[in-house]
Amino acid sequence: MILIMFGAPGVGKGSQAKILSEALRIPHISTGDIFRENVANRTELGRLVKVHMDNGLLVPDEMTIGLIMDRIYNADCKSGFILDGFPRTLSQVEHLGRSLKAEKRSIDTVVNITLDDAKIIGRLTGRRVCPSCNLVYHLAYNKPHNVGRCNKCSSNLVQRVDDTESTIVRRLQVYHAQTKPVLSYCRDRYVVVDVVSEDDIDDTTRNIFRSLGLAAIGTSDEGSQYMRLSNGCA
Ligand code: AP5
Ligand code: MG
Repeated sequence: MILIMFGAPGVGKGSQAKILSEALRIPHISTGDIFRENVANRTELGRLVKVHMDNGLLVPDEMTIGLIMDRIYNADCKSGFILDGFPRTLSQVEHLGRSLKAEKRSIDTVVNITLDDAKIIGRLTGRRVCPSCNLVYHLAYNKPHNVGRCNKCSSNLVQRVDDTESTIVRRLQVYHAQTKPVLSYCRDRYVVVDVVSEDDIDDTTRNIFRSLGLAAIGTSDEGSQYMRLSNGCA
């Protein structure tokens, strides 16, 4: 299954992609996480992308498309993958479609998560992330068990550099101007499901599963299991 998590900054693409990745046992590929890892490791790519990210601007296509094309041809992507934060420009989505077509594959579903811009600001200013294992928390909606510490690895949680109000506003402007047209492009070619980002992460997950025709049937240490619903609804 090839899924795209689509939506404005802060709608919950990353949070939901992690849950789906565990349930479906396919890789979660986040361009933002890959870029942040490069920035943290002070690689040449990290040096080049940092200025764009810190200012809430898109990283140029020539630094983004090749990176993702290489990643999706890894062996672990054979049974499918979940893209989070890609494609974000018309050039990226066209490139992805062409590359998959050459392999006789295609995007199965675009999950378009929606939320008002005003609410997005609250989601992002309250977000805290673990710099070690990338787990994402929220000061009100998804609190860690111990204040300021990651539940999984106990690292000190941090705020993302681009989660200040002025940069969030810029990211939203960039989303509406450059990324939203990708959605219209996808609606003409692929299955797009629209899911509202409820103020409860589990409710949102249930709605996404339902719209994909999947029902969670329990959890284990290795992640949730799922089954496909025959009639596509729960
Ligand atoms: P990226 O890291 O992709 O950032 P983004 O798109 O701005 O999205 P976010 O990660 O901020 O939000 P999210 O939707 O994942 O929400 P989350 O689950 O964390 O990209 C960063 C930068 O990298 C870009 O600005 C750009 O510079 C560059 N870049 C990346 N990809 C690129 C590309 N393809 N081309 C060019 N440049 C690219 O949730 C947010 C918060 O809300 C969390 O605190 C969470 O706990 C909470 N929350 C989530 N869901 C719910 C819910 N249902 N109810 C309550 N709280 C919730
Ligand atoms: Mg994210």
